[in-house]
Amino acid sequence: MINVTGFRYCRLGTADLEETVKFATEIIGLELVGQENGFAYLRGDDRDHNIVYFQGDPNDHTVGLALDTFEELDAAESTLKELGLTVHRGSEEEAAARRCMGYINFKDNSGNSIDLTVRPFAAGRRYFPSRDAGITEFSHIGLRVTNPREAEKFWSQVFNFKTSDWIGWSALMTFDEVHHRYALFPSDRPGIQHINFQVAETDDVMKSNYFMQDRQVRIQAGPGRHALSGARFLYYYGPDEMIYEYSCGVRMVDDSWRPRQFPIEDASFCAWGSRPDLTILGSGDAAD
Ligand SMILES: [Fe+2]
Repeated sequence: MINVTGFRYCRLGTADLEETVKFATEIIGLELVGQENGFAYLRGDDRDHNIVYFQGDPNDHTVGLALDTFEELDAAESTLKELGLTVHRGSEEEAAARRCMGYINFKDNSGNSIDLTVRPFAAGRRYFPSRDAGITEFSHIGLRVTNPREAEKFWSQVFNFKTSDWIGWSALMTFDEVHHRYALFPSDRPGIQHINFQVAETDDVMKSNYFMQDRQVRIQAGPGRHALSGARFLYYYGPDEMIYEYSCGVRMVDDSWRPRQFPIEDASFCAWGSRPDLTILGSGDAAD
């Protein structure tokens, strides 16, 4: 089993790097920690970075996870190759661009690009944002998968992810105590569907709701409260139609937690009664 211990970054192509960096700093409230060789590194916590943007295909997404040791990285490479997946061993230069000491990249069966890093960099300086959105941590992503049941099996059998809850066929999964690090959504294509930053409290969610409205940023869902994780949330659109989320108060789970099945309906997505767009969850048919 491949033992993931860290949730690290997203690498995202964007049609307009300058505009996207401006949105990330001025609207989301991320800190631009560096820009080199066409890559812009941003963060919302004390890790080296949480998002890397580069000028390129807006559908080109990679998720960065961390393993503890090079021995585990070698074993992961063998395991993934045995499963018939395409694995790339990163060069020193490629590892430097990912701000880690080494990594491999593979594509899962949906076509999602995943980096497994070893010893990703910590930051010597604390996070210092240009706008006070109340961000405390880069926390989870929504990941598009072409076969949700197969993807859940892959992440729970080949990797150490566990399902915390289901909504329809979408599994919300984690490798640590945070209720979910992945929300797997049925789709006809791979890619990151949304990027979550935790904020300190409900006040931050509500303040951002009005902040976004004032600046005519398109709200995708919320403000609301997730029935599954208990988190108060706000989703909004950024450049390239990427969806970003602020939430606070996500549930913590331990080994005694048993996953619950929720139906695809408004109340499963929002306990407060907001009217979310549920199309991302599919129709409840596993083949979706
Ligand atoms: Fe989310």
